[in-house]
Amino acid sequence: MMAERPHVFVFRKVLFHERIAEILAPVADVSFHDTEDPPAEAAVRARLPGVAGLIPSSLDPVTAPMMAAAPGLRVVGNYGVGYNNVDVAAATARRIPVTNTPGVLTEATADTTWTLLLAAARRAVEADAYVRAGTFDGWRGSLFPGMELNGKALGIIGLGLIGQAVARRALGFGMRVIYAGRRRAAPEAERALGARCVPLEDLLRQADVVSLHCPLTPETRHLLDARRLALMKPTALLINTARGPVVDERALVEALRARRIAGAGLDVYEEEPTLAPGLAELPTVVLFPHIGSSTLEAREGMARLAAENVRAALEGRRPPNLVNPQVWPAAGP
Ligand code: 8YV
Repeated sequence: MMAERPHVFVFRKVLFHERIAEILAPVADVSFHDTEDPPAEAAVRARLPGVAGLIPSSLDPVTAPMMAAAPGLRVVGNYGVGYNNVDVAAATARRIPVTNTPGVLTEATADTTWTLLLAAARRAVEADAYVRAGTFDGWRGSLFPGMELNGKALGIIGLGLIGQAVARRALGFGMRVIYAGRRRAAPEAERALGARCVPLEDLLRQADVVSLHCPLTPETRHLLDARRLALMKPTALLINTARGPVVDERALVEALRARRIAGAGLDVYEEEPTLAPGLAELPTVVLFPHIGSSTLEAREGMARLAAENVRAALEGRRPPNLVNPQVWPAAGP
């Protein structure tokens, strides 16, 4: 009798889903939830008993009870670099490899960060709305004065791959880079970026633009709360392309309303897709619908990496982007 082929379930019909199917075809049968929307809990639950691989987006929870209901689960291949949606501790306890998609979305996300940064600094959304409303009746020197970036300090929280790509772009805009984070960057990276490591609260006091690039963990949840937001300069901007819950969004609305900070550019929200009350009414914010990595190039790379990671695990090879290496036996002598 032929051994049954493993089954991989993809939580959403993502861009380039055919690539996922193509890469996995030699080793597994692949099924997709049939739309871009999150699948209903019951639909996921029904798949679990027979599944060997799961490919969730970073918005789809993969919980301990789900893993318990999937005794044949051999890999969780996140489609995304952030994996706060996966209970990694529970996966590790079950010796299930968890993977993500770093690298392929670094430049796209850095570009999005700068799109928000420039738009907030030069009040692009307000200015665009002014023209569309038919209010533009001739040049005025007083129209929408913004913040000049040259010579200002960019404070990066989390100088990982994306943080460094954001810092590289800062050099072209004549900004100085300071950073704070869990880990100090390599001395060569610091030198190349002219980046100075400072304590978080000093960064908040000194930066003209604060940009978030840390993962969401229990330690970074509400890292920017009302007290820390109050340390920022009243002229400063906050950019978030990391994860919404890193900022206390209600406290941010208050800080913006009271003009304790000057503006914000946000791609992610605390309770996506719901926005904190009052956020959308503020003229000083630029709001994107979680499109940080949304370039064709990055999406193709994410589909490819997610599938390659899952394929490797199903073939008994170490997945290239393992986030819980403890589950993989060390190579022999
Ligand atoms: C994804 C992201 O678009 O990679 C991440 O962590 O937040 C985004 O790039 C989204 O989460 C899809 O999984």
